[in-house]
Amino acid sequence: MNIVVIGSGYVGLVTGVCLSSIGHHVICVDNNKKKIQQLKAGQVPIYEPGLEELMRACTKKKRLKFTDSIKEACQQSTVIFLALPTPPKPNGDADLTYIENAAREIALHMNSYKLIVEKSTVPAETGNRIHRTIVLNLPRKYKRGDRVLLDFDVASNPEFLKEGSAVDDFMNPDRIVLGVESKKAEKILREIFKPLKTKILVTNTASSEMIKHASNSFLATKISFINAVAQICDRVGADVLKVAEGMGFDQRIGRQFLDAGIGYGGSCFPKDVNAFIHLAEKNGYDFGLLKEVRRINDLQWASFVHLAEEKLWNLKEKNIGIWGLAFKPNTDDMRHAPSVDIIARLKEEGARVKAYDPKAMANAVSIFKDICLCDDPYKVAQDADALLLLTEWPEFKEVDFVQVRDAMRQAVIFDGRNMLDAAKLKKLGFEYFGIGRGRL
Ligand code: UGA
Repeated sequence: MNIVVIGSGYVGLVTGVCLSSIGHHVICVDNNKKKIQQLKAGQVPIYEPGLEELMRACTKKKRLKFTDSIKEACQQSTVIFLALPTPPKPNGDADLTYIENAAREIALHMNSYKLIVEKSTVPAETGNRIHRTIVLNLPRKYKRGDRVLLDFDVASNPEFLKEGSAVDDFMNPDRIVLGVESKKAEKILREIFKPLKTKILVTNTASSEMIKHASNSFLATKISFINAVAQICDRVGADVLKVAEGMGFDQRIGRQFLDAGIGYGGSCFPKDVNAFIHLAEKNGYDFGLLKEVRRINDLQWASFVHLAEEKLWNLKEKNIGIWGLAFKPNTDDMRHAPSVDIIARLKEEGARVKAYDPKAMANAVSIFKDICLCDDPYKVAQDADALLLLTEWPEFKEVDFVQVRDAMRQAVIFDGRNMLDAAKLKKLGFEYFGIGRGRL
C-alpha cells in the first residue's frame, strides 16, 4: 500500500515508520524543512525508544521517504493519514486549523481515489468537516453541479500510542478502531493493519472519534480517582500502593493507571480532557465529572509543593534538588509536565533549584532560564535541603543513596511518583515522604 502521513510529530513519525516496517511504502510529510532534512539524514528529532533504529532500517529498504510537499506525496499515494497538531484554543476548544489547511491542500492536488484518515484526536464531527472542505476545494474539473466526479473517503483511526513505548504499542495494540463510512474504506484499512494481529472494531467516524475522547478522559479519571484516594490515605494512615494493588486485583477495575503521584501531564490528557469538557458544553451537556478530574489533577502538584514547604518550614533560600523533568519516563517530552508548574512555584517561594533529567535536558534549557541544570543526580543532591523526585526514571532506583545522603544538607526526599524503596531510605537515615503513603 502507498501511504502518506501528514505531520511528523510524535504520532505521525511513529505511525509512518511503523507502517513502513510492516511492509507499506510510506512518505512522511512535514512543513518544517529543517525537520525533514534531519529525518532524511537518519536523525529522529525526539527521543522515543527504538524509533531511530527502525526508521533507518525502513529507509534502507527504500520503503520510507520524507518530504515537505503535500502535493508530491499525495499524488503518489492512495491513503493519507492526518497526524497534525490540534492545540487548545484559549476557550479549551481544539484548534483544527492545521487539519483544515491540510484538507484544502489535499483537495487541490487529488488526482485519483484517496482515503483520508484522521489520526489526531479531534472532536466528533471533524470527519464530516474534512469531507465538506475537500468537496469545496476540489478543482472545477472534478465537479459537475452538485456532483463530485472524483471518489474519496474520510475515515477515523484514532491513535492509542503512549510516548516512551510508542513503537511497541503500535506493533502490539490492544485494539484497532476503524471509523468508516464505506465498505471500500474499511477494506483498505483492514488490509493496511492486516500484519498486526489484534481485535479490530469497525464503526462510523463519529463513534470512532468519540472512542478516542472517552478513552483518554477515562484514563485521566482513573488517575484522578486514585490521587483523590491518596489524599485520604495520607489523612487516615493507609498506604495507596496497597489500596491500588487490592483494587487492581478486581478484573473489572484493573491495576493499570492507578499510580498515585503529582498528576498527569503531557501533550494528551490535559488537552483532551479540556477538549471533551468543551465539546460536551457546546452540545448542551455539563460534564461536571471531568471538571472535577481536572481540579484534582491541579491539586496534586500544588499539595506536593505545599508538603515540602511544610516539612522544610519554608522554602525561601532552601536548596531544592529535582530528579526528573519529563512528564513521564522514556521520553524527552516536557509539554504540560508537572515539573514546570512545580519548579515555577518553588521559584516563587524563593527556593534555589537544581535539576537533572536523563533525556529532557535539551528541552529543559529552553523552558527554565533561572535554575541550575546538572548533568547527573549526585550534583543535584550536593548541599540540597531536599530532593523532589518528579519523574520515575528507572535510573533513580540505582543511585548510591549513601553518597546522596552524605552530599545533602538535609537528607529529605519527597517522592512524587512513589518509586523509591521507603524502608531502605529510612534505614539509611532519610526522611521520606511519598504520595498517599499514610503512616509509613
Ligand atoms: C496517552 C494515552 O495513554 C495513550 O493511549 C494515547 O494514545 C495518548 O495519550 C494520546 O492521546 O496521544 P501519553 O500521554 O503518551 O499517552 O502517556 P501516558 O502513559 O498515558 O501518561 C500520561 C500521564 O499520566 C503521565 O504524566 C503519567 O505520569 C501520568 N500517569 C499515568 C499517572 O500519573 N498515573 C498512572 O497510573 C498512569
